Amino acid sequence: MNVTIVGTGYVGLVTGACLAELGNNVFCPDVDQNKIKLLNAGGMPIHEPGLEEIIQRNVEEGRLRFSSDVAASVAFADVQFIAVGTPPDEDGSADLKYVLAAARTIGRHMDGFKVIVDKSTVPVGTAEKVEAAVREELAARGLADMEFSVASNPEFLKEGAAIEDFMRPDRIVLGVATDAGGERALAALRELYRPFNRNHERTRVMDVRSAEFTKYAANAMLATRISFMNELANLADKVGADIELVRQGIGSDPRIGYSFLYAGTGYGGSCFPKDVDALCRTAQENGLPLQVLDAVQRVNASQKKVLLDKVWARFGHRTEGRVFAIWGLAFKPGTDDMREAPSRSIIEALLRAGATVRAHDPVAQEQAARALASDMADQPDLMRNITFVAQPLDAAQGADALIVLTEWKNYKSPNLRALKNALRSPLVLDGRNIYEPHAMAAAGLTYMGIGRNNAALLKAEDRLPEVAEGLVEPNERVTSAA
Ligand code: UDX
Repeated sequence: MNVTIVGTGYVGLVTGACLAELGNNVFCPDVDQNKIKLLNAGGMPIHEPGLEEIIQRNVEEGRLRFSSDVAASVAFADVQFIAVGTPPDEDGSADLKYVLAAARTIGRHMDGFKVIVDKSTVPVGTAEKVEAAVREELAARGLADMEFSVASNPEFLKEGAAIEDFMRPDRIVLGVATDAGGERALAALRELYRPFNRNHERTRVMDVRSAEFTKYAANAMLATRISFMNELANLADKVGADIELVRQGIGSDPRIGYSFLYAGTGYGGSCFPKDVDALCRTAQENGLPLQVLDAVQRVNASQKKVLLDKVWARFGHRTEGRVFAIWGLAFKPGTDDMREAPSRSIIEALLRAGATVRAHDPVAQEQAARALASDMADQPDLMRNITFVAQPLDAAQGADALIVLTEWKNYKSPNLRALKNALRSPLVLDGRNIYEPHAMAAAGLTYMGIGRNNAALLKAEDRLPEVAEGLVEPNERVTSAA
């Protein structure tokens, strides 16, 4: 099939590349000419494992093209995906200006039936706004009767695993209108997604509003799990329980499940904070505030300070002369995305308190430097107090503490003896609970995780059988590396 994907951001690029990989002809327009130039020169605007190879192959084989010629992109395909950004506006609602601009462009150039698919995460009711915008453009051209249908097909891609998520979806949500246009839209989208439904049907067909809502509900549910675990972790610290063992203990219940139960430094990224905020807004606007979700947001904001509180408790609020090693800057492994990364507020607070920071991240250092410089634009001199180093151990050299903020694989099994020797004082603050407390203690390191300080007291043989059998991630390798 021919498909147009408007917007070469994260979602648009992944969707375009993957649909081309499946054999479709894909046109990816973007109003940002620099991005188009970069992509056409073989460059990559984002870091996403596997994406570059897929793009290269499909461009070479002629199935994927990038251009800023919007008229050509509308003419190219009957199915037009809108995958442009929806940044939050000042009050936290999703700003639809790019989505509606893309809709208008389609309306200005279309010359026959189109299926217009909202792929961007947009509030309930957006499809109707898209429809009105297209209709207005058509009317201005004297084509008020030209037919089209607006559908909703939200994405559920995780950064760092987006290709895998796209190619092996657990569900494909299609929201279509109940009229004849909706049927045509459904037929086209079913055909496009047919390769994913060979073994069993993954498509969930529903009305457009429910599809739009599904995306927010999914992210809100996941964010709720995280905030709830973070609150439990803080309580575990107080009562002397280990949240990691508790996680394994509750995750074995299939009604709960193991995933998304990791306590940490709070969720970040481009989706959770923005989508949770937007859903809270929608709820308020409808006179039905979501009390649980409001609390989820508050807990997340305070969770970003939990590690800092441990730092202040140990070193006091003035940290001149102190050196902190940071492992991990991106909001999660597998990406260079710094949006809402907990590392930003933590490093900013350390620098503002007078500390020196030595930071490592396998891919996000450049992005982090830019993000931090903008966060601290009022005190640009402070950027002199942060250095980005090539190796994790370089960061630890002479540091008063190591703070782990992203659970990159290469941080999971450090040489603990070398780490201890590098540090000026042997303190490890683990914001992702990737180490085993007793292994750290055995290596002479003072270990503080999130909600697990009691675990140092446990002997290996006391651990839950699932851990011993390796059914759940026990961070075993750290033990052996010690
Ligand atoms: C998320 C959704 O998973 C995806 O379906 C949606 O389409 C976009 O938003 P993403 O933002 O890429 O994807 O990251 P995800 O892996 O979901 O993690 C989000 C945040 O939650 C990260 O900051 C992560 O560190 C944090 N997290 C995740 C936890 O703190 N604990 C967990 O158990 C899981």
